[in-house]
Amino acid sequence: MKKYLLFLLVIHVTFCLAQRSMDRFYPPQELMPVGVYYYPEHWERSQWERDIRRIKELGFSFTHYGEFAWAQLEPEEGKFDFRWLDEAVKIASDIGLKIIMCTPSPCPPVWLTQKHPEILVVDEKGVQRKHGIRLHANAAHPTYQKYIKRIVTELGKRYGNHPAVVGWQIDNEPHFDTQYDYSEYSKKAFREWVKKKYNNDIKALNKAWGLAFWSGLLNNFEQIEIPNKVTGALASSPHAILDFKRFNAEQVAKGIQFQAAILRKIISPQQYITTNYAYYKFLPSVDIFLTKHDLDFATHTMYLLSQWLNNPEGELGHRLGSGMELSFSSELARSVNGATAIMELQPGQINWGKFNPQPLPGAVRMWLWHSFGLGDRFACTYRFRQPLYGGEMYHAGIMETDGVTLARGGKEYVQFIKEIEQLKTKYASTITNVAPQEIEARRTAFLWNMDNQWETDEQKQSDRYVWWNHIYTYYEVLKSMGCPVTFLQESDTFDAQKYPFMVAPSYQLIDKHLIDKWKRYVEEGGHLILTCRTGEKNKHGQFHEALRQQPIWELIGAKILYFDMMPAEQNATIAYENKTAAWNIWADILEAYEGTEILATYADQFYKGAPAVVTRKLKKGTVTYIGAWSQNKQLENDILRTVYKRAQVKILNLPYYVFTEWRSGFWVTVNYTSQRVEAPVHEKATILYGNKEVEPGEVCVWIEN
Ligand code: GAL
Repeated sequence: MKKYLLFLLVIHVTFCLAQRSMDRFYPPQELMPVGVYYYPEHWERSQWERDIRRIKELGFSFTHYGEFAWAQLEPEEGKFDFRWLDEAVKIASDIGLKIIMCTPSPCPPVWLTQKHPEILVVDEKGVQRKHGIRLHANAAHPTYQKYIKRIVTELGKRYGNHPAVVGWQIDNEPHFDTQYDYSEYSKKAFREWVKKKYNNDIKALNKAWGLAFWSGLLNNFEQIEIPNKVTGALASSPHAILDFKRFNAEQVAKGIQFQAAILRKIISPQQYITTNYAYYKFLPSVDIFLTKHDLDFATHTMYLLSQWLNNPEGELGHRLGSGMELSFSSELARSVNGATAIMELQPGQINWGKFNPQPLPGAVRMWLWHSFGLGDRFACTYRFRQPLYGGEMYHAGIMETDGVTLARGGKEYVQFIKEIEQLKTKYASTITNVAPQEIEARRTAFLWNMDNQWETDEQKQSDRYVWWNHIYTYYEVLKSMGCPVTFLQESDTFDAQKYPFMVAPSYQLIDKHLIDKWKRYVEEGGHLILTCRTGEKNKHGQFHEALRQQPIWELIGAKILYFDMMPAEQNATIAYENKTAAWNIWADILEAYEGTEILATYADQFYKGAPAVVTRKLKKGTVTYIGAWSQNKQLENDILRTVYKRAQVKILNLPYYVFTEWRSGFWVTVNYTSQRVEAPVHEKATILYGNKEVEPGEVCVWIEN
């Protein structure tokens, strides 16, 4: 017990320190400094001064160096060349520009990977990555770490006390180029990991991985292969696959942790350590919460027009981009340590989308305002100059290809920088961290565990059960109600005062501890919303030896009898509040206990009349179970609104892809739809930028009087 309390205390202190440290590095009164990446190694030395001065003149307050420059920093093994970086640092520093310094681990030089090909990652077909790309070596590999340690130590010693260097970025969008590493090294490390997890007990492993199935039984740990769908290794065990995904994410984290520990010992406490996590949907192999205790804060990156994301509907959707995913990205990264910043925000057209349209005039500025509203503590963009060669030639920069003409997106950055400057000076007295009661009352926790995605992806049961789409259904509804969302982990405190609402969509993997925590949260006044498939499995991803989802029946006040799905072209119907909703991807068919209220029922099929959505009171709070996934989010929207309204909480009524956020005393509404919309400006308000009527790609910023 004592140990447990001590553990809680350590976690608490770490969390408070992390929050305070963000304020220390980025005082709230500074609002949101803006920076830009510059690659001195890509340009003639004679142009550096001109370029870096221009960065400063345009109003940027920091730049970002070096994440891909290992070959220039250590051209031959053990022979370092820091002169060029020293010069670039000096130019920035002399004119008052701050610097984020990076470690170059995504790009090992050719001499290194040719000498040690064993550090290279291997894909599931057995193909080893070669020199010429990035993120092709495993930063958890001890041999690679020897070299990383040397270069990071050199960099740390050189710039770790430089007053212009504000912080460090480890690596770049950490992940393996192959997503999962199937190398010999990874196989051996996985065996060790598994051995430790299962206490060297092969019987326990056979049970946890369900290897009695199809003669999968193993006699010893040396027989373990990496689960692989191409070769078939362990492919019939979703439990082994789940463990491998957990292991792989830990390997990525290990690479970051290793570097953080080196830097921490060398650099000044005035400098922070972070990394720029890429958008999670692209990288299911990474778990950003794993480096919570190693980084001062996690930053995120976002390219809204890649067309790989969920665009808003409407003719301008492809030019305005996925504001929903910018929002999700920021709120998820913020949840790791209580504060975040955006390290890469698209400056204009990009090169790697499905197709790469021009942003609508105003969209770049709108993204910046949205990021501000979400609470990002700084914004930085990739990159200052558009490259003239290399794999990203078609990627816009702040400057055009001549290096001296401000690009369209660049102009919008400059405008935003001026606007923020004005807020800082004219409205300094408005700046506060105390959120209005209206905001606190609808603060919502989103329970988050990568296990659920990893497992569901292996066991979809329908090609249309795309886990992200289910998650987004709920996230979008929450944002349309104006809820600030915090992603909690199971190990966090479920505080019903701080988070009056909690959603846990499609939360498949559970244990008794979690059910008890949920129950306590509700009894203390929380409103818990669970959705289809929640509680199906234990932590190995196996069914409970019980009836379907039985461990949560008592909590939700209903039995879950079975589930159903329909063909894509044929909808079934749910009836509720004089309305109907169509569904076809998934439906849990329920049977309510006495005292449980039925909010929606199935209106057809052989189970017509059975409940689809139920809710119940439990001491001071409520539990709602939404068993079906509707076609157009209307059911989810209506049910969530019912839950919040019954709790007498003020919610907004924003169209999808219109977002309203409160940050530091300022309200911000942004419009990603193709129509003009009305911002929910308060009665007594002063509008600082824009109008109450917000055009597509426009913003409205106001303060309450
Ligand atoms: C990011 C990456 C950058 C650059 C950029 C191009 O994902 O971190 O290095 O490649 O994409 O849009």
